[in-house]
Amino acid sequence: MSDPSSDCKDSKNGLAGVTAGHTSICSLDKTLRYRGYAITDLLECSFEEVAHLLLWGDLPTENQLREFATRLHTHAQSLPETVLWCFSRLAKTSPQCSIMDVLRTGVSILGQIECDNGPEEMPHHRDLSQERFKAEQLLGHVPALLAAWIDCISGRQPTPWPKKPLATALLEKLCHTQISDNAANVFTKTLILYAEHEFNASTFAARTVTSTGSDMHSAIATAIGTLKGPLHGGANERVLQQLMDIGTLENVGPWVARQLENKDVIMGFGHRIYKSGDVRARLLHEAGHQLDDKSASFEPHRKLEKLANKVEAVMFEKKRLKPNLDWPTARIYHALGLPINLFTPLFVVARMTGWTAHIIEQMSDNRLIRPVAEYRGPSPRQFIAIEDR
Ligand code: COA
Repeated sequence: MSDPSSDCKDSKNGLAGVTAGHTSICSLDKTLRYRGYAITDLLECSFEEVAHLLLWGDLPTENQLREFATRLHTHAQSLPETVLWCFSRLAKTSPQCSIMDVLRTGVSILGQIECDNGPEEMPHHRDLSQERFKAEQLLGHVPALLAAWIDCISGRQPTPWPKKPLATALLEKLCHTQISDNAANVFTKTLILYAEHEFNASTFAARTVTSTGSDMHSAIATAIGTLKGPLHGGANERVLQQLMDIGTLENVGPWVARQLENKDVIMGFGHRIYKSGDVRARLLHEAGHQLDDKSASFEPHRKLEKLANKVEAVMFEKKRLKPNLDWPTARIYHALGLPINLFTPLFVVARMTGWTAHIIEQMSDNRLIRPVAEYRGPSPRQFIAIEDR
């Protein structure tokens, strides 16, 4: 029998290059744009402004922004007691679990509490404003889930959600210290760049779930599970682990050579769409320099930066591959003092905006997503009864 996996690197494998639908949320042609605005302009905004743009279709006025931010803040500080109770039990039974699982479970519990059971009506009959308010609730709840879990496993009493921009509030909650404007600014840029990216795997998974008539919480739980994978969002955690493993400048060449020889991918490099470099990686690389306060305590991060630069040079020389967004983000989160296992969950907090926008877009113009497969199994054969085999 022929091995179906032996000859599968054709252009459509992994849906590479296949246009699988249409969207008005994000375009990647020439530069990255959210709803028509260039990413370089949006990087000057607050995370809430960009979230409003993605979810409601337009940049907010000052009034709209104030009201939107207030609604998110209200949701962030009103996690249902049941979630907190479940988290306190889970923190005892599985304190070491992946925080991606925590978020996926948290969203599932929220969906059950909300009775977001889905299709009494078909998706295109849903009230999309109500879905947008449901999305806002999730945008506030998800960062609160993350902070609540960290409090739980650290045995800390939950504190009120700070009345500050969402990015600053979350960073303060996770780092348990006052955050400088500079740190908040760079962190905000990472969230804006992580917020949306067209038909990436997790967004497409969320749209597929939505296309069946299922509910928003189910689609988000699926998206979180999809983002967890190391070829997708999980890459940012591995990037830092890799740099720690490499350790010294002298080790870069042999380490990369070994990886390539073993056919192991180097995390943080390559991209399905950007074959000559990810615009987001370049923008964040520049933003990351802002964190260097020229103090002696920043020296370990300068060393890591040099190590990363060398890996980049070797990867380009050996494979002509350039870094993707996860490459600079991992170093930025590390320099901000965030533990590695928070990196991908922070991607979730940001991508919630893109996911919910896509879920609503799918609901507004729905058709079941159901592609076809090219059959590569055995040719038709004669059935043999079990006693004759
Ligand atoms: N390290 C080593 N080699 C890599 C690589 C990496 N990070 N990314 C791609 N390649 C190689 C592939 O093995 C392939 O080599 P080959 O032609 O000799 O077989 C070639 O580059 C082309 O890659 P391709 O298979 O077209 O990539 P893809 O579009 O299927 O995969 C990724 C895209 C993102 C999954 C892939 O680049 C990858 O695994 N990167 C590391 C994980 C990561 O950083 N993910 C975050 C993405 S934002």
